[in-house]
Amino acid sequence: MDTLKPENLPEHLAVIMDGNGRWAEKRMLQRIVGHQKGVETVRVIVEECSRLGIRYLTLFAFSAENWLRPKTEVKALMALLKKYIRAEIARMMQNDIRFNVIGNRADLPPDIDREIQAAMDRTANNRGMLLTLALSYGGRQEIVTAAKTLAEEVAAGRLSAEAIDEKMLSGSLYTAGIPDPDLLIRTSGEMRISNFLLWQLAYAELYFTEVNWPDFDRNELARAFRDYQSRERRFGMTSDQLRKESA
Ligand code: IPE
Ligand code: IPE
Ligand code: MG
Repeated sequence: MDTLKPENLPEHLAVIMDGNGRWAEKRMLQRIVGHQKGVETVRVIVEECSRLGIRYLTLFAFSAENWLRPKTEVKALMALLKKYIRAEIARMMQNDIRFNVIGNRADLPPDIDREIQAAMDRTANNRGMLLTLALSYGGRQEIVTAAKTLAEEVAAGRLSAEAIDEKMLSGSLYTAGIPDPDLLIRTSGEMRISNFLLWQLAYAELYFTEVNWPDFDRNELARAFRDYQSRERRFGMTSDQLRKESA
């Protein structure tokens, strides 16, 4: 197997962590056991990304649409989330990781929101990897929220409609200040975006694997990175142009 080229790792990796439920169901276990195993994978992957020098890691943990799941599953997921954030702060401090959340935080139970705020405050001065959890997150909702913010600025006379450009819209999203993902990984064999980072994924490389999230590990991550390193990112140009540019 080729080794990874450290100079060509994604600066920003985004992951749709899918397949916890199926992992459990295959083993005749409750879906929540799959979510518990999934949290262990989060620990491993966060630490590995930080070790490899990835600057931004964004994990889709709970979508705006996931509120439609059975109440018992939603409750169990929220409880797991609270436990995870609380338990991880020490490890984030050790690894110099800054913690961040994107999504509609107003939807989250207040005790979880407090836990999030505490973790963000504690890790605010860390300078290593930025770990972002997408919680109650929907890409379309994010774009609508940004459009409203800009419309209000225009209505108040502080901004002209003419001045709105891509940079300004990007800066009005939850991800303001974070570069777009270079690579998106989705586990469990589903090949869809499910309303994740719609705007930001415009030029991301997409990587899909059949492996369910609880079985995803360092080797699978390395496999995804190797695949990424074999891609040519053309951004609309020709191969020839790219060769000349890098020469
Ligand atoms: C991903 O696993 C975790 C969340 C969406 C919270 P799923 O729970 O979607 O697992 P499957 O897709 O049903 O197997
Ligand atoms: C996407 O997975 C959301 C998360 C991984 C948190 P889903 O399992 O909710 O996506 P769909 O419903 O299969 O598209
Ligand atoms: Mg799923």
